[in-house]
Amino acid sequence: MAMLSFPGMIDVHVHLREPGATQKEDIFTGTRAALAGGVIAVLDMPNNVPPTIDRPSLEEKKRLFALKAVTDYGIFLGYVGGDVQPLLDLADQVVGLKLYIDETFGDLRMGTKNLEHVFEVWPGPGPIAVHAESSSIPVVLELAERYKQRLHVCHVPHPDDLLLIEAARQRGVEVTCEVTPHHLFLSLEDAQRLGPYGYMKPPLLPPAEVALFWERLSLIDVIASDHAPHTKAEKESPHPPPGVPGLETTLPLLLYAVDEGRLSWERVLELIWENPLRIFRLIPPKDSEVQVILEEPYKLTQEGYYTRCGWSPFGGKWALGRVHSVRLHGQTVWQEGQLLVDPGYGRPLRHGS
Ligand code: NCD
Ligand code: ZN
Repeated sequence: MAMLSFPGMIDVHVHLREPGATQKEDIFTGTRAALAGGVIAVLDMPNNVPPTIDRPSLEEKKRLFALKAVTDYGIFLGYVGGDVQPLLDLADQVVGLKLYIDETFGDLRMGTKNLEHVFEVWPGPGPIAVHAESSSIPVVLELAERYKQRLHVCHVPHPDDLLLIEAARQRGVEVTCEVTPHHLFLSLEDAQRLGPYGYMKPPLLPPAEVALFWERLSLIDVIASDHAPHTKAEKESPHPPPGVPGLETTLPLLLYAVDEGRLSWERVLELIWENPLRIFRLIPPKDSEVQVILEEPYKLTQEGYYTRCGWSPFGGKWALGRVHSVRLHGQTVWQEGQLLVDPGYGRPLRHGS
């Protein structure tokens, strides 16, 4: 029986929904789903209710993670416009600043109002991470260049955006980017079949454009799930919210792609471990290991996941590998589907130099 061992995944883009929408997920169920998927640390987005945009909301989120997380974690700060003082005061407590330039789930859309000023003043050490549709990407690249900011483009909407990002890199702009598993393993054809369960921002693309993502894989720094759970009732309502869960499916989808020869395992490790640590300047969690049993390829199921929302858009897709155990901070935290530590075992990620 083949067993694969590696330090674990760092998923830099998750929405664990707490506080505010724990019918979809909470910090405990979300980080437990992470362990089930071989993820030992998550970076949580700020589009909560209330949003994570000031000291009280950040303190509350830190408190909840300290109580409930079973993986390590980092927290993004959000911004909706107005006073930039909270950004200056809180920058060193967060993994980055998340800006929603374009429309998505939640109330954090800022558009381009005050955008330049934010690029001017953000002190780091984390990068500015942006939710930007293709039309906004040139704008943020230009601002990153002008103000010498480190920019991270979340869930790149289109493979042509990778070319713009690469051109900026060649000019010396410090820009990195992530692509989601759903943009690599699902297409518009799946979206038609899945209806609301295949609806997310940015939307899925035609198969030919998905193929271009794969051709341009060398331009991608990170694969991150954008784990964005919503309940089935919400998805089946007249106005379904955008977003799909993904914490438990990224690793088996990637392992199958490795098995097919679409990319190497060394490259996967860069995308899910080395580059996340480098981009967010994080010290790796101590003494971690994920063990995966490889055996035969299988098809992912539509239901039966640890995420509270309970469903996956990847049902029917080929996968390889099942997480056997996870060690974190020297202790086995997950084995054969059993959680072996209490809520609160996870620690905040720390910034390195
Ligand atoms: C995300 C969500 O539901 O929070 N939805 C999505 O479609 N990706 C928000 C986001 O990441 O834009
Ligand atoms: Zn997101």
